[in-house]
Amino acid sequence: MRLQKFLARAGAASRRGSENLMTAGRVTVNGITVTELGSKVDPRIDEVAVDGIVVQLSDRPVTLALNKPSGVVTTMSDPQGRPCVASLVPTDRYPGLYPIGRLDLDTTGLLLFSTDGELGHALLHPKKHVEKRYIALVEGKPSEKELERLRAGIELDDGMTLPAKVEVLAGEAAKRAFADLTETARQGAPASREYARKLDLRAARRSVVSIRIHEGRKRQVRRMLEAVGHPVVHLHRTHFGPIALGALEPGAWREIDGEELAALSSALRR
Ligand code: URA
Repeated sequence: MRLQKFLARAGAASRRGSENLMTAGRVTVNGITVTELGSKVDPRIDEVAVDGIVVQLSDRPVTLALNKPSGVVTTMSDPQGRPCVASLVPTDRYPGLYPIGRLDLDTTGLLLFSTDGELGHALLHPKKHVEKRYIALVEGKPSEKELERLRAGIELDDGMTLPAKVEVLAGEAAKRAFADLTETARQGAPASREYARKLDLRAARRSVVSIRIHEGRKRQVRRMLEAVGHPVVHLHRTHFGPIALGALEPGAWREIDGEELAALSSALRR
């Protein structure tokens, strides 16, 4: 493996930063300073150090949360060359990172990633019923009767949905949720910024809906709200099981560890 790639994967710096560490003469391999960028190392044998401190590849699984902007596809590479989520997470450092499920191109908010394939698989398993919470800006205002249909479970073209927890937000809660949603929607690709300008709460009697579902079918929330006559203008995910998006900046990520990771694992045991 190339030394700069090793350094990036071990978390010493970004790929470019690792090259700078090398050319600055701060990197040693088995005690010998290496400045040549093409140099190779064998991580099983060689001892690599930066400023005399040994760096190693981590083999512990890593899980992280991203605040996905709109206009970014949930794939690790896109044959059509569209911006994809891979460019927003540290794949150099954690090469096995993979998104846990997907959000639509224009859906924003919480997207989890993990190098732990088993954890990802379990969190998506329909029998585990991990709850996901979304904030949706919708056309019109759903009536109590329409909300009851969603709460009971509704017939979609791929079958009945499980009961959902759904409410129309009002007052301060609606304003706050709308502000979070538009802040994230305004980041991202130029086409998304254009799209975000159209997100107007007052236009055409729109309302802000909180919806919690336990499934992960394709475009499920959009289809559910459409089925009761309230198409989604914008969708934003705020929670995945016990993990909350919180104050994560649009396009930024943070590692999930400690108590949060334990809570995520225990959500699977329920
Ligand atoms: N439901 C949707 O309709 N879209 C998403 O991106 C996620 C859930």
